Amino acid sequence: MDSKDTLLQLSKTMPKTELHLHIEGTFEAEQMFAIAQRNQVPLKYQSVEALKAAYQFTNLQDFLDLYYQGMSVLLHEVDFYDLTMAYLTKVHEENVVHVEIFFDPQGHLSRGVAFETQITGIYRALQDAQQQWGMSFKLIMSFLRHLSEESAFETLELAKPFLNWIDGVGLDSSELGHPPEKFLRVFEACQALGLKVTAHAGEEGPPEYVWQAIEQIKVDRIDHGNRALEDEKLVAVIKEQELTLTVCPLSNLKLCVVNDMTDHPIKDMLALGLKATVNSDDPAYFGGYMQANYNALINDSDINKAELYQLAVNGITGSWMDQELKYQHLDTLKSLFS
Ligand code: ADE
Ligand code: ZN
Repeated sequence: MDSKDTLLQLSKTMPKTELHLHIEGTFEAEQMFAIAQRNQVPLKYQSVEALKAAYQFTNLQDFLDLYYQGMSVLLHEVDFYDLTMAYLTKVHEENVVHVEIFFDPQGHLSRGVAFETQITGIYRALQDAQQQWGMSFKLIMSFLRHLSEESAFETLELAKPFLNWIDGVGLDSSELGHPPEKFLRVFEACQALGLKVTAHAGEEGPPEYVWQAIEQIKVDRIDHGNRALEDEKLVAVIKEQELTLTVCPLSNLKLCVVNDMTDHPIKDMLALGLKATVNSDDPAYFGGYMQANYNALINDSDINKAELYQLAVNGITGSWMDQELKYQHLDTLKSLFS
């Protein structure tokens, strides 16, 4: 039996991937205030402390209300660069070797910030991290599901000149009342352009939304997927299709998707043969980055060495990185855990 200290140490040294990360959700309060001041944009809160004190959520919408307010100070390319670089610097120190990052163009277009401004800042930071540290990356444009499919189509048009920078598309924001099927046609258009597809499903929404994501949208993976466990047939389909679930433990705790980390379903997912991975979602709001998520699972959910290994392996195999790179990281993992 390995001690928690051994597992914590292993989790630190092992190469990690991040497959579910909203770049706007990495906006630390300190940086938000600094950029607000630089751009002369007023914030609703008087201080960093007052803002952080508001990070008490009872559901997804509570969080989203603050998330959209926070991102409203991002105006210029340099803001998007600084935000992305701050995140990449942090996770590089945690031995994250590959990131797949969501951005929410509609959250900025609505404030008059051009698509080009957003993506150029984010992409330049990703390229710099790749050059400096060899960190590989994919970029995922996410559609806001509380808006219309027409708005998603308009966003796709704006994205077309930048398709060589975009690897996939996602679906996020308020889940309840906005099922995946609402976006069926726009996802078909994305797939026709060769883009990968993922969707948030089963975070708060019912198993039916996960069915729609798989059977109608034909997603390449599922973001969250917690509520899929309520439906045995759905679990069997996810397993048979070897769909990766991008699970976010600290996010689930902060948004009351689980009551306690000891109740987190990630061990059950692994036991059922599902390809669960560990991710941080919106780390500036939820209490920690990649390492903090692993620490919480080791300390409070009692994951063992075999489970830790499986989570790390799933993060590599479920990513969209090149096959050759996958083999390299899998070899490193194998020798670390042997
Ligand atoms: N946007 C940012 N974080 C999100 C989450 N956890 N669920 C849905 N939309 C989001
Ligand atoms: Zn998310």
